[in-house]
Amino acid sequence: MDLNVKKICCIGAGYVGGPTMAVIAKNCPHLEVNVVDKNQSRIDAWNESDLDKLPIYEPGLKDIIKRYRGINLHFSSDIKTNIANADLIFISVNTPTKTKGFGAGQASDLKWIDSSAREISKYAKGQTIVVEKSTLPVRTAQTIKEILEGAASNTKSNSEKPKFSVLSNPEFLAEGTAIDDLENPDRVLIGGDNQESISILVDIYKNWISEEKIITTNLWSAELSKLIANAFLAQRISSINSISALCEYTGANISEVSLAIGSDKRIGEKFLNAGPGFGGSCFKKDISNLIYIANHYGLTEVSEYWQKVIDINEWQTKRISKLIVEKLFNTISSKKICILGFAFKANTNDTRESPAIKICKELLEESCKISIYDPKVNCKQIENDLLVKQSNELSENETGEWIFANSIIEASVNSDAIIVATEWEEFKFINWRKIYKEMRKPAWVFDTRSIINIQEVKDSGINYWRIGEGITQ
Ligand code: UDX
Ligand code: ADP
Repeated sequence: MDLNVKKICCIGAGYVGGPTMAVIAKNCPHLEVNVVDKNQSRIDAWNESDLDKLPIYEPGLKDIIKRYRGINLHFSSDIKTNIANADLIFISVNTPTKTKGFGAGQASDLKWIDSSAREISKYAKGQTIVVEKSTLPVRTAQTIKEILEGAASNTKSNSEKPKFSVLSNPEFLAEGTAIDDLENPDRVLIGGDNQESISILVDIYKNWISEEKIITTNLWSAELSKLIANAFLAQRISSINSISALCEYTGANISEVSLAIGSDKRIGEKFLNAGPGFGGSCFKKDISNLIYIANHYGLTEVSEYWQKVIDINEWQTKRISKLIVEKLFNTISSKKICILGFAFKANTNDTRESPAIKICKELLEESCKISIYDPKVNCKQIENDLLVKQSNELSENETGEWIFANSIIEASVNSDAIIVATEWEEFKFINWRKIYKEMRKPAWVFDTRSIINIQEVKDSGINYWRIGEGITQ
Protein backbone atom coordinates (compact mmCIF):
# COMPACT_ATOMS: atom_id res chain seq x y z
CA MET A 1 0.00 0.00 0.00
CA ASP A 2 1.73 3.12 -1.22
CA LEU A 3 0.00 5.73 0.88
CA ASN A 4 1.11 9.05 2.32
CA VAL A 5 -1.43 9.83 5.04
CA LYS A 6 -2.36 13.52 5.17
CA LYS A 7 -6.01 13.49 6.12
CA ILE A 8 -7.63 11.48 8.87
CA CYS A 9 -11.35 11.10 9.41
CA CYS A 10 -12.93 9.74 12.58
CA ILE A 11 -16.53 8.53 12.44
CA GLY A 12 -18.08 9.14 15.87
CA ALA A 13 -17.50 12.25 18.00
CA GLY A 14 -18.12 10.59 21.36
CA TYR A 15 -16.16 9.93 24.54
CA VAL A 16 -13.55 7.95 22.58
CA GLY A 17 -13.47 9.68 19.17
CA GLY A 18 -13.42 13.29 20.46
CA PRO A 19 -10.52 13.11 22.95
CA THR A 20 -8.50 10.62 20.85
CA MET A 21 -8.61 12.80 17.74
CA ALA A 22 -7.85 15.92 19.79
CA VAL A 23 -4.63 14.29 21.03
CA ILE A 24 -3.67 13.07 17.54
CA ALA A 25 -4.23 16.58 16.13
CA LYS A 26 -2.12 18.08 18.90
CA ASN A 27 0.80 15.72 18.35
CA CYS A 28 0.63 15.55 14.54
CA PRO A 29 0.48 19.12 13.22
CA HIS A 30 1.23 17.77 9.70
CA LEU A 31 -2.07 15.84 9.68
CA GLU A 32 -5.57 17.21 9.14
CA VAL A 33 -7.98 15.52 11.54
CA ASN A 34 -11.72 15.62 10.79
CA VAL A 35 -14.17 14.21 13.31
CA VAL A 36 -17.62 13.51 11.88
CA ASP A 37 -20.86 12.49 13.52
CA LYS A 38 -24.40 12.03 12.26
CA ASN A 39 -25.65 13.72 15.41
CA GLN A 40 -25.73 17.41 14.41
CA SER A 41 -26.27 18.71 17.94
CA ARG A 42 -23.18 16.83 19.15
CA ILE A 43 -21.12 18.38 16.36
CA ASP A 44 -22.55 21.82 17.21
CA ALA A 45 -21.53 21.29 20.82
CA TRP A 46 -17.95 20.39 19.77
CA ASN A 47 -17.90 23.65 17.75
CA GLU A 48 -19.25 25.76 20.65
CA SER A 49 -17.32 28.97 21.24
CA ASP A 50 -18.04 28.62 24.97
CA LEU A 51 -15.65 25.78 25.82
CA ASP A 52 -17.62 24.95 28.97
CA LYS A 53 -20.36 23.69 26.67
CA LEU A 54 -18.31 20.99 24.92
CA PRO A 55 -20.31 17.73 24.90
CA ILE A 56 -17.73 15.94 26.99
CA TYR A 57 -15.98 16.93 30.18
CA GLU A 58 -12.41 15.64 30.44
CA PRO A 59 -9.61 17.34 32.36
CA GLY A 60 -7.21 18.94 29.82
CA LEU A 61 -9.54 18.56 26.83
CA LYS A 62 -10.69 22.17 26.73
CA ASP A 63 -7.12 23.46 26.29
CA ILE A 64 -6.43 21.19 23.33
CA ILE A 65 -9.70 22.12 21.63
CA LYS A 66 -8.93 25.79 22.18
CA ARG A 67 -5.51 25.50 20.53
CA TYR A 68 -6.16 23.11 17.63
CA ARG A 69 -9.82 23.41 16.65
CA GLY A 70 -10.07 25.15 13.30
CA ILE A 71 -6.30 24.65 12.77
CA ASN A 72 -5.85 20.93 12.07
CA LEU A 73 -8.80 19.60 14.11
CA HIS A 74 -12.32 19.97 12.69
CA PHE A 75 -15.74 18.74 13.78
CA SER A 76 -18.33 18.29 11.04
CA SER A 77 -21.53 16.48 10.09
CA ASP A 78 -20.42 16.29 6.46
CA ILE A 79 -19.67 12.59 6.57
CA LYS A 80 -19.54 12.14 2.80
CA THR A 81 -16.86 14.74 2.00
CA ASN A 82 -14.68 13.86 4.95
CA ILE A 83 -14.73 10.14 4.15
CA ALA A 84 -13.99 10.87 0.48
CA ASN A 85 -10.97 13.03 1.38
CA ALA A 86 -9.53 10.72 4.05
CA ASP A 87 -6.49 8.48 3.68
CA LEU A 88 -7.15 6.85 7.02
CA ILE A 89 -10.52 6.45 8.78
CA PHE A 90 -11.08 5.58 12.43
CA ILE A 91 -14.41 4.00 13.30
CA SER A 92 -15.26 5.17 16.79
CA VAL A 93 -18.98 4.65 17.06
CA ASN A 94 -21.03 3.25 19.93
CA THR A 95 -21.41 -0.53 20.27
CA PRO A 96 -23.86 -1.00 23.17
CA THR A 97 -25.30 -4.33 24.26
CA LYS A 98 -28.30 -5.44 22.21
CA THR A 99 -31.58 -4.83 23.99
CA LYS A 100 -33.70 -7.12 21.81
CA GLY A 101 -33.45 -9.90 19.27
CA PHE A 102 -30.80 -12.64 19.15
CA GLY A 103 -28.22 -12.21 21.89
CA ALA A 104 -30.27 -9.52 23.69
CA GLY A 105 -28.57 -8.52 26.95
CA GLN A 106 -25.21 -9.99 25.90
CA ALA A 107 -24.16 -9.50 22.29
CA SER A 108 -22.94 -6.11 21.06
CA ASP A 109 -25.25 -4.19 18.77
CA LEU A 110 -23.20 -3.73 15.63
CA LYS A 111 -25.70 -1.67 13.65
CA TRP A 112 -23.60 1.50 13.91
CA ILE A 113 -20.45 -0.37 12.85
CA ASP A 114 -22.36 -1.83 9.91
CA SER A 115 -23.67 1.58 8.81
CA SER A 116 -20.23 3.21 9.22
CA ALA A 117 -18.64 0.51 7.02
CA ARG A 118 -21.33 1.08 4.39
CA GLU A 119 -20.78 4.85 4.46
CA ILE A 120 -17.05 4.29 4.02
CA SER A 121 -17.51 1.91 1.10
CA LYS A 122 -19.90 4.34 -0.56
CA TYR A 123 -17.82 7.50 -0.30
CA ALA A 124 -14.15 6.45 0.03
CA LYS A 125 -11.81 7.04 -2.88
CA GLY A 126 -8.52 5.35 -3.71
CA GLN A 127 -6.55 3.58 -1.02
CA THR A 128 -7.97 3.87 2.46
CA ILE A 129 -6.91 2.39 5.78
CA VAL A 130 -9.90 1.66 8.01
CA VAL A 131 -9.13 1.42 11.72
CA GLU A 132 -11.47 -0.05 14.34
CA LYS A 133 -11.26 2.08 17.49
CA SER A 134 -14.53 1.01 19.12
CA THR A 135 -14.42 -2.09 21.33
CA LEU A 136 -15.78 -4.91 19.23
CA PRO A 137 -16.45 -8.60 19.43
CA VAL A 138 -13.56 -10.67 18.17
CA ARG A 139 -13.70 -11.18 14.37
CA THR A 140 -15.67 -7.98 13.65
CA ALA A 141 -12.84 -6.86 11.36
CA GLN A 142 -13.88 -9.70 9.06
CA THR A 143 -17.43 -8.29 8.95
CA ILE A 144 -16.08 -4.81 8.21
CA LYS A 145 -13.87 -6.19 5.42
CA GLU A 146 -16.76 -8.04 3.85
CA ILE A 147 -19.09 -5.01 4.00
CA LEU A 148 -16.40 -2.70 2.60
CA GLU A 149 -15.65 -5.00 -0.30
CA GLY A 150 -19.21 -6.21 -0.94
CA ALA A 151 -20.88 -2.83 -0.78
CA ALA A 152 -18.22 -1.22 -2.98
CA SER A 153 -18.78 -3.79 -5.74
CA ASN A 154 -22.53 -3.03 -5.65
CA THR A 155 -22.08 0.63 -6.33
CA LYS A 156 -18.82 1.19 -8.16
CA SER A 157 -17.17 0.09 -11.37
CA ASN A 158 -13.87 -1.81 -11.14
CA SER A 159 -11.75 1.26 -11.95
CA GLU A 160 -13.47 3.39 -9.28
CA LYS A 161 -13.36 0.74 -6.56
CA PRO A 162 -11.43 1.93 -3.51
CA LYS A 163 -8.84 -0.37 -1.90
CA PHE A 164 -9.21 -1.01 1.80
CA SER A 165 -7.04 -2.38 4.52
CA VAL A 166 -8.57 -2.97 7.95
CA LEU A 167 -6.70 -2.58 11.25
CA SER A 168 -7.77 -3.00 14.86
CA ASN A 169 -6.44 -0.31 17.19
CA PRO A 170 -8.53 -0.54 20.37
CA GLU A 171 -8.49 2.42 22.74
CA PHE A 172 -7.60 1.84 26.39
CA LEU A 173 -8.31 5.34 27.71
CA ALA A 174 -10.35 5.64 30.87
CA GLU A 175 -12.79 8.50 31.26
CA GLY A 176 -11.69 11.23 33.63
CA THR A 177 -8.03 10.60 32.73
CA ALA A 178 -8.52 10.31 28.95
CA ILE A 179 -6.07 13.03 27.89
CA ASP A 180 -3.28 11.76 30.11
CA ASP A 181 -3.98 8.15 29.05
CA LEU A 182 -3.77 9.18 25.39
CA GLU A 183 -0.63 11.27 25.86
CA ASN A 184 1.16 8.65 28.00
CA PRO A 185 -0.41 5.26 27.31
CA ASP A 186 0.91 2.05 28.88
CA ARG A 187 0.79 0.63 25.37
CA VAL A 188 -0.72 1.15 21.93
CA LEU A 189 -2.10 -1.99 20.35
CA ILE A 190 -2.34 -2.38 16.59
CA GLY A 191 -3.62 -5.56 14.98
CA GLY A 192 -3.67 -6.27 11.28
CA ASP A 193 -2.55 -8.47 8.43
CA ASN A 194 -1.18 -5.78 6.13
CA GLN A 195 2.32 -4.83 7.26
CA GLU A 196 2.43 -1.56 5.34
CA SER A 197 -0.81 -0.27 6.83
CA ILE A 198 0.40 -1.26 10.29
CA SER A 199 3.64 0.71 9.73
CA ILE A 200 1.65 3.77 8.61
CA LEU A 201 -0.40 3.75 11.81
CA VAL A 202 2.68 3.02 13.94
CA ASP A 203 4.35 6.09 12.38
CA ILE A 204 1.43 8.30 13.41
CA TYR A 205 1.71 7.18 17.05
CA LYS A 206 5.51 7.50 16.98
CA ASN A 207 5.00 11.27 16.81
CA TRP A 208 4.59 11.21 20.59
CA ILE A 209 4.86 7.62 21.84
CA SER A 210 8.06 5.59 22.01
CA GLU A 211 8.21 2.60 19.72
CA GLU A 212 8.70 0.08 22.56
CA LYS A 213 5.19 0.86 23.75
CA ILE A 214 3.60 0.01 20.42
CA ILE A 215 2.53 -3.64 20.26
CA THR A 216 1.59 -5.13 16.91
CA THR A 217 -0.40 -8.36 16.67
CA ASN A 218 -2.77 -10.12 14.35
CA LEU A 219 -6.28 -8.68 14.02
CA TRP A 220 -8.01 -11.18 16.27
CA SER A 221 -5.53 -10.86 19.14
CA ALA A 222 -5.97 -7.07 19.12
CA GLU A 223 -9.76 -7.31 19.15
CA LEU A 224 -9.82 -9.98 21.86
CA SER A 225 -7.18 -8.26 24.04
CA LYS A 226 -9.36 -5.18 24.44
CA LEU A 227 -12.30 -7.26 25.70
CA ILE A 228 -10.03 -9.22 28.02
CA ALA A 229 -8.29 -6.15 29.46
CA ASN A 230 -11.68 -4.76 30.46
CA ALA A 231 -12.85 -8.14 31.78
CA PHE A 232 -9.73 -8.46 33.99
CA LEU A 233 -10.11 -4.93 35.35
CA ALA A 234 -13.77 -5.51 36.13
CA GLN A 235 -12.95 -8.85 37.73
CA ARG A 236 -10.55 -7.13 40.15
CA ILE A 237 -13.30 -4.72 41.19
CA SER A 238 -15.81 -7.53 41.74
CA SER A 239 -13.18 -9.42 43.75
CA ILE A 240 -12.48 -6.50 46.07
CA ASN A 241 -16.19 -5.62 46.34
CA SER A 242 -17.04 -9.18 47.38
CA ILE A 243 -14.42 -8.90 50.13
CA SER A 244 -15.79 -5.51 51.24
CA ALA A 245 -18.96 -7.27 52.36
CA LEU A 246 -16.93 -9.84 54.27
CA CYS A 247 -14.99 -7.03 55.97
CA GLU A 248 -18.22 -5.46 57.18
CA TYR A 249 -19.13 -8.70 59.01
CA THR A 250 -15.70 -9.58 60.37
CA GLY A 251 -14.48 -6.18 61.56
CA ALA A 252 -11.69 -6.03 58.97
CA ASN A 253 -11.23 -2.85 56.98
CA ILE A 254 -11.23 -3.06 53.18
CA SER A 255 -8.80 -0.13 52.73
CA GLU A 256 -6.29 -1.91 54.95
CA VAL A 257 -6.84 -5.21 53.15
CA SER A 258 -6.37 -3.50 49.76
CA LEU A 259 -3.14 -1.92 50.94
CA ALA A 260 -1.87 -5.19 52.38
CA ILE A 261 -2.58 -7.31 49.32
CA GLY A 262 -1.76 -4.57 46.78
CA SER A 263 1.79 -4.21 48.07
CA ASP A 264 2.50 -7.68 46.72
CA LYS A 265 3.99 -6.80 43.32
CA ARG A 266 2.30 -9.79 41.74
CA ILE A 267 -1.11 -8.37 42.71
CA GLY A 268 -0.33 -4.65 42.34
CA GLU A 269 -1.95 -1.69 44.08
CA LYS A 270 -4.22 -0.31 41.35
CA PHE A 271 -7.92 -1.02 40.86
CA LEU A 272 -8.44 -2.28 44.39
CA ASN A 273 -10.85 0.41 45.60
CA ALA A 274 -14.07 -1.10 46.86
CA GLY A 275 -17.13 0.85 45.77
CA PRO A 276 -20.81 0.66 44.85
CA GLY A 277 -20.05 -1.50 41.80
CA PHE A 278 -18.38 -0.67 38.52
CA GLY A 279 -20.20 1.49 36.01
CA GLY A 280 -19.28 3.03 32.68
CA SER A 281 -20.04 2.06 29.14
CA CYS A 282 -17.42 -0.67 28.83
CA PHE A 283 -17.07 -3.18 31.63
CA LYS A 284 -20.53 -4.73 31.69
CA LYS A 285 -20.87 -4.56 27.92
CA ASP A 286 -17.52 -6.20 27.28
CA ILE A 287 -17.95 -9.00 29.81
CA SER A 288 -21.46 -9.67 28.45
CA ASN A 289 -19.93 -9.92 25.04
CA LEU A 290 -17.24 -12.28 26.30
CA ILE A 291 -19.95 -14.46 27.84
CA TYR A 292 -21.85 -14.45 24.57
CA ILE A 293 -18.78 -15.46 22.57
CA ALA A 294 -17.84 -18.21 25.07
CA ASN A 295 -21.38 -19.61 24.89
CA HIS A 296 -21.28 -19.44 21.13
CA TYR A 297 -18.26 -21.77 21.16
CA GLY A 298 -19.89 -24.06 23.76
CA LEU A 299 -17.52 -22.95 26.55
CA THR A 300 -20.17 -22.97 29.27
CA GLU A 301 -17.69 -23.02 32.20
CA VAL A 302 -15.90 -19.99 30.78
CA SER A 303 -19.12 -18.05 30.36
CA GLU A 304 -20.35 -19.00 33.85
CA TYR A 305 -17.05 -17.86 35.37
CA TRP A 306 -17.33 -14.38 33.83
CA GLN A 307 -21.06 -14.14 34.54
CA LYS A 308 -20.19 -14.17 38.25
CA VAL A 309 -18.19 -10.94 37.82
CA ILE A 310 -21.37 -9.22 36.62
CA ASP A 311 -23.52 -10.92 39.28
CA ILE A 312 -21.30 -9.70 42.13
CA ASN A 313 -21.38 -6.20 40.64
CA GLU A 314 -25.16 -6.08 40.64
CA TRP A 315 -25.37 -7.63 44.07
CA GLN A 316 -22.97 -5.03 45.49
CA THR A 317 -25.10 -2.09 44.34
CA LYS A 318 -28.29 -3.69 45.54
CA ARG A 319 -26.95 -4.62 48.96
CA ILE A 320 -25.97 -0.98 49.49
CA SER A 321 -29.48 0.30 48.64
CA LYS A 322 -30.92 -2.33 50.97
CA LEU A 323 -28.69 -1.53 53.91
CA ILE A 324 -29.48 2.19 53.56
CA VAL A 325 -33.16 1.39 53.99
CA GLU A 326 -32.39 -0.92 56.93
CA LYS A 327 -30.27 1.67 58.76
CA LEU A 328 -33.02 4.26 58.31
CA PHE A 329 -35.36 2.10 60.44
CA ASN A 330 -36.58 0.02 57.50
CA THR A 331 -38.62 2.82 56.03
CA ILE A 332 -37.58 5.75 53.91
CA SER A 333 -41.06 6.67 52.77
CA SER A 334 -41.22 10.51 52.67
CA LYS A 335 -37.69 10.80 54.07
CA LYS A 336 -35.24 12.97 52.18
CA ILE A 337 -32.06 11.38 50.89
CA CYS A 338 -29.25 13.42 49.42
CA ILE A 339 -27.16 11.83 46.68
CA LEU A 340 -23.70 13.30 46.18
CA GLY A 341 -22.38 12.35 42.76
CA PHE A 342 -24.26 10.87 39.83
CA ALA A 343 -21.47 10.23 37.28
CA PHE A 344 -20.15 6.65 37.16
CA LYS A 345 -16.78 7.90 38.41
CA ALA A 346 -15.13 11.23 39.19
CA ASN A 347 -13.92 13.71 36.58
CA THR A 348 -16.45 12.82 33.91
CA ASN A 349 -20.00 13.91 33.08
CA ASP A 350 -20.74 10.39 31.80
CA THR A 351 -23.49 8.51 33.64
CA ARG A 352 -23.68 5.34 31.56
CA GLU A 353 -24.27 2.33 33.89
CA SER A 354 -23.60 4.58 36.88
CA PRO A 355 -24.32 2.76 40.17
CA ALA A 356 -25.96 6.02 41.34
CA ILE A 357 -28.77 5.43 38.82
CA LYS A 358 -29.58 2.02 40.26
CA ILE A 359 -29.36 3.24 43.86
CA CYS A 360 -31.69 6.20 43.12
CA LYS A 361 -34.19 3.99 41.32
CA GLU A 362 -34.25 1.47 44.15
CA LEU A 363 -34.70 4.19 46.76
CA LEU A 364 -37.44 5.94 44.74
CA GLU A 365 -39.30 2.62 44.72
CA GLU A 366 -39.41 3.00 48.52
CA SER A 367 -41.21 6.34 48.07
CA CYS A 368 -38.47 8.60 49.37
CA LYS A 369 -37.52 12.13 48.30
CA ILE A 370 -34.13 12.49 46.66
CA SER A 371 -31.98 15.55 46.07
CA ILE A 372 -29.07 15.05 43.67
CA TYR A 373 -25.91 17.07 43.33
CA ASP A 374 -23.11 16.33 40.85
CA PRO A 375 -20.49 18.90 39.82
CA LYS A 376 -20.68 17.97 36.11
CA VAL A 377 -23.87 16.02 35.38
CA ASN A 378 -26.85 18.17 34.39
CA CYS A 379 -30.49 17.86 35.33
CA LYS A 380 -31.59 16.76 31.85
CA GLN A 381 -29.18 13.83 31.89
CA ILE A 382 -30.46 12.70 35.29
CA GLU A 383 -34.06 12.87 34.01
CA ASN A 384 -33.09 10.66 31.07
CA ASP A 385 -31.39 8.15 33.34
CA LEU A 386 -34.05 7.93 36.04
CA LEU A 387 -36.92 8.05 33.54
CA VAL A 388 -38.68 10.31 36.04
CA LYS A 389 -39.10 14.06 35.58
CA GLN A 390 -37.63 16.32 38.21
CA SER A 391 -40.19 17.75 40.67
CA ASN A 392 -40.44 21.51 41.06
CA GLU A 393 -40.28 21.03 44.79
CA LEU A 394 -40.40 18.00 47.04
CA SER A 395 -43.96 17.45 48.28
CA GLU A 396 -45.33 15.87 51.44
CA ASN A 397 -46.92 13.05 49.43
CA GLU A 398 -45.80 9.48 49.86
CA THR A 399 -44.44 9.19 46.34
CA GLY A 400 -40.87 8.85 45.14
CA GLU A 401 -39.65 12.22 43.82
CA TRP A 402 -36.32 13.82 43.05
CA ILE A 403 -34.94 17.29 42.68
CA PHE A 404 -31.70 18.70 41.28
CA ALA A 405 -29.44 20.70 43.60
CA ASN A 406 -26.71 23.17 42.71
CA SER A 407 -24.47 22.59 45.70
CA ILE A 408 -23.70 20.09 48.45
CA ILE A 409 -25.31 22.27 51.08
CA GLU A 410 -28.47 22.87 49.03
CA ALA A 411 -28.81 19.11 48.47
CA SER A 412 -28.34 18.27 52.15
CA VAL A 413 -30.91 20.67 53.67
CA ASN A 414 -33.51 18.71 55.71
CA SER A 415 -32.12 15.37 54.54
CA ASP A 416 -32.16 12.27 56.74
CA ALA A 417 -29.20 10.72 54.98
CA ILE A 418 -26.43 11.60 52.56
CA ILE A 419 -25.05 9.02 50.14
CA VAL A 420 -21.65 9.66 48.62
CA ALA A 421 -21.99 7.83 45.31
CA THR A 422 -19.10 9.26 43.23
CA GLU A 423 -15.57 10.00 44.43
CA TRP A 424 -15.47 13.70 43.38
CA GLU A 425 -12.58 15.60 44.98
CA GLU A 426 -14.87 18.21 46.61
CA PHE A 427 -16.63 15.48 48.63
CA LYS A 428 -13.37 14.77 50.44
CA PHE A 429 -13.39 18.21 52.04
CA ILE A 430 -16.98 18.56 53.22
CA ASN A 431 -17.47 20.50 56.44
CA TRP A 432 -19.60 17.91 58.20
CA ARG A 433 -20.38 20.04 61.26
CA LYS A 434 -21.97 22.62 58.96
CA ILE A 435 -23.88 19.94 57.05
CA TYR A 436 -25.10 18.28 60.27
CA LYS A 437 -26.86 21.50 61.29
CA GLU A 438 -28.88 21.39 58.06
CA MET A 439 -29.96 17.74 58.36
CA ARG A 440 -32.88 16.05 60.12
CA LYS A 441 -31.79 14.00 63.11
CA PRO A 442 -30.80 11.21 63.50
CA ALA A 443 -28.62 12.01 60.51
CA TRP A 444 -26.70 9.45 58.47
CA VAL A 445 -23.96 9.48 55.89
CA PHE A 446 -23.28 6.45 53.66
CA ASP A 447 -19.86 6.61 52.06
CA THR A 448 -19.87 4.10 49.19
CA ARG A 449 -16.41 5.22 48.00
CA SER A 450 -14.56 5.47 51.29
CA ILE A 451 -13.40 9.03 50.62
CA ILE A 452 -14.92 11.28 53.26
CA ASN A 453 -12.97 12.62 56.21
CA ILE A 454 -14.16 10.15 58.81
CA GLN A 455 -12.82 11.98 61.86
CA GLU A 456 -14.82 15.08 60.89
CA VAL A 457 -17.96 12.98 60.45
CA LYS A 458 -17.44 11.37 63.87
CA ASP A 459 -16.90 14.77 65.50
CA SER A 460 -20.00 16.20 63.86
CA GLY A 461 -22.40 13.71 65.42
CA ILE A 462 -23.58 12.19 62.15
CA ASN A 463 -23.98 8.40 62.10
CA TYR A 464 -21.97 6.84 59.34
CA TRP A 465 -21.54 3.72 57.27
CA ARG A 466 -18.49 3.25 55.10
CA ILE A 467 -17.97 0.58 52.47
CA GLY A 468 -15.95 -2.37 53.74
CA GLU A 469 -15.67 -1.15 57.34
CA GLY A 470 -16.63 -3.58 60.05
CA ILE A 471 -17.82 -1.50 62.92
CA THR A 472 -20.09 1.51 62.55
CA GLN A 473 -18.70 3.76 65.34
C1 UDX B 1 -12.50 1.40 31.40
C2 UDX B 1 -11.04 0.93 31.27
O1 UDX B 1 -10.30 1.31 32.45
C3 UDX B 1 -10.39 1.52 30.03
O2 UDX B 1 -9.09 1.00 29.85
C4 UDX B 1 -11.26 1.18 28.81
O3 UDX B 1 -10.72 1.79 27.65
C5 UDX B 1 -12.70 1.63 29.01
O4 UDX B 1 -13.22 1.08 30.23
P1 UDX B 1 -13.68 3.62 32.27
O5 UDX B 1 -14.93 2.80 32.24
O6 UDX B 1 -13.69 4.95 31.60
O7 UDX B 1 -12.47 2.81 31.60
O8 UDX B 1 -13.24 3.88 33.78
P2 UDX B 1 -12.50 3.02 34.92
O9 UDX B 1 -11.54 3.90 35.61
O10 UDX B 1 -11.96 1.75 34.41
O11 UDX B 1 -13.67 2.73 35.95
C6 UDX B 1 -14.76 1.87 35.64
C7 UDX B 1 -15.64 1.70 36.86
O12 UDX B 1 -14.96 0.95 37.87
C8 UDX B 1 -16.06 3.01 37.52
O13 UDX B 1 -17.41 2.93 37.91
C9 UDX B 1 -15.15 3.12 38.73
O14 UDX B 1 -15.69 3.89 39.78
C10 UDX B 1 -15.02 1.65 39.10
N1 UDX B 1 -13.79 1.37 39.87
C11 UDX B 1 -12.56 1.54 39.31
C12 UDX B 1 -13.89 0.89 41.18
O15 UDX B 1 -15.01 0.72 41.71
N2 UDX B 1 -12.75 0.60 41.87
C13 UDX B 1 -11.51 0.77 41.33
O16 UDX B 1 -10.52 0.47 42.03
C14 UDX B 1 -11.41 1.24 40.01
P1 ADP C 1 -18.02 6.05 22.81
O1 ADP C 1 -18.05 6.13 24.32
O2 ADP C 1 -17.68 4.67 22.30
O3 ADP C 1 -17.19 7.12 22.19
P2 ADP C 1 -20.46 7.55 22.21
O4 ADP C 1 -21.87 7.07 22.26
O5 ADP C 1 -19.99 8.60 23.18
O6 ADP C 1 -19.56 6.24 22.31
O7 ADP C 1 -20.14 8.10 20.73
C1 ADP C 1 -20.39 7.44 19.55
C2 ADP C 1 -20.83 8.46 18.50
O8 ADP C 1 -20.88 7.80 17.22
C3 ADP C 1 -22.21 9.09 18.72
O9 ADP C 1 -22.09 10.49 18.83
C4 ADP C 1 -23.03 8.68 17.46
O10 ADP C 1 -23.90 9.69 17.01
C5 ADP C 1 -21.91 8.42 16.45
N1 ADP C 1 -22.30 7.53 15.34
C6 ADP C 1 -22.84 6.29 15.42
N2 ADP C 1 -23.02 5.76 14.19
C7 ADP C 1 -22.59 6.67 13.29
C8 ADP C 1 -22.52 6.71 11.86
N3 ADP C 1 -22.90 5.67 11.13
N4 ADP C 1 -22.04 7.83 11.26
C9 ADP C 1 -21.62 8.88 12.03
N5 ADP C 1 -21.65 8.90 13.38
C10 ADP C 1 -22.13 7.82 14.01
